[in-house]
Amino acid sequence: MPRDDPKDLHPDGMIVIRDLFKSFGENRVLQGLNLDVKRGEDMVVIGRSGSGKSVLIKCIIGLIKPDRGSIYINGEDIVPFKEKNLNEMRKKFGMLFQFGALFDSMPVWENVGFGLKQHTELKNDEIRDIVKEKLKMVGLDGVDDLMPSELSGGMKKRVSLARAIAMEPEILLYDEPTTGLDPIMADVINELIIRLREKLKVTSIAITHDMVSAYKIANRIAMLYQGKIIEVGTPDEIRNSNNDVVQQFIQGRSEGPITRGK
Ligand SMILES: Nc1ncnc2c1ncn2[C@@H]1O[C@H](COP(=O)(O)OP(=O)(O)OP(=O)(O)O)[C@@H](O)[C@H]1O
Ligand SMILES: [Mg+2]
Repeated sequence: MPRDDPKDLHPDGMIVIRDLFKSFGENRVLQGLNLDVKRGEDMVVIGRSGSGKSVLIKCIIGLIKPDRGSIYINGEDIVPFKEKNLNEMRKKFGMLFQFGALFDSMPVWENVGFGLKQHTELKNDEIRDIVKEKLKMVGLDGVDDLMPSELSGGMKKRVSLARAIAMEPEILLYDEPTTGLDPIMADVINELIIRLREKLKVTSIAITHDMVSAYKIANRIAMLYQGKIIEVGTPDEIRNSNNDVVQQFIQGRSEGPITRGK
């Protein structure tokens, strides 16, 4: 078996990341990161603010070019891809950005239907019908013609989620889906993420530092620390991890190896 063929090594690996490096000047953010995400699972990546979670997810969707390493999506390494192939590849992805990233000048329906308008030949009234259905999936009704400025933070997250699923992606990437929401709205989003996985059978990566959310939505949790994934396991395995760094993080302790700089 050829050692470097990810299909042989990981037959059910939807996203397989090998030896990924990314620096910004002197700032070494990703330093040989490895991660395997199986088809249909929800992998949650946890880690401190500034540890590189958003950089990782932007590498996966091709918005940031890694310095070296491989990211296999369905067995194909996307790191060498040029913009044209990246655009094609991105159609497989739905992405919920950390800060929502809705277009302020467009009503909700155009925001949700943006990808459909760009990538399909559908007419506006067909797009509106699909948008209505996606908004219903995230529990929103009658907001189609509102502007983003007229929505609460939780509604914006749900509109962003509707946009992420509008093109029926195979892979969903969530950057901090529950940050800034009250605990009840956060739980609504958690339930939605679980429902989407079950209903749409998507593979997903969610990054968060909200451990309540991580335990709830994850099939497995991976901890990013000093540019690498230092531990991967089921929520129970992570809870019972004997890695001091993992324990300090999940317990939210100010004293421990992370803050001693080890
Ligand atoms: N485009 C960029 N140019 C230069 N440096 C960047 C860029 N994007 C991220 N960084 C740096 O990379 C590091 C990791 O940032 P990143 O946004 O991935 O953190 P994060 O883990 O998502 O944090 P948070 O939990 O606060 O969102 C930071 O030091 C940040 O300053
Ligand atoms: Mg981030």
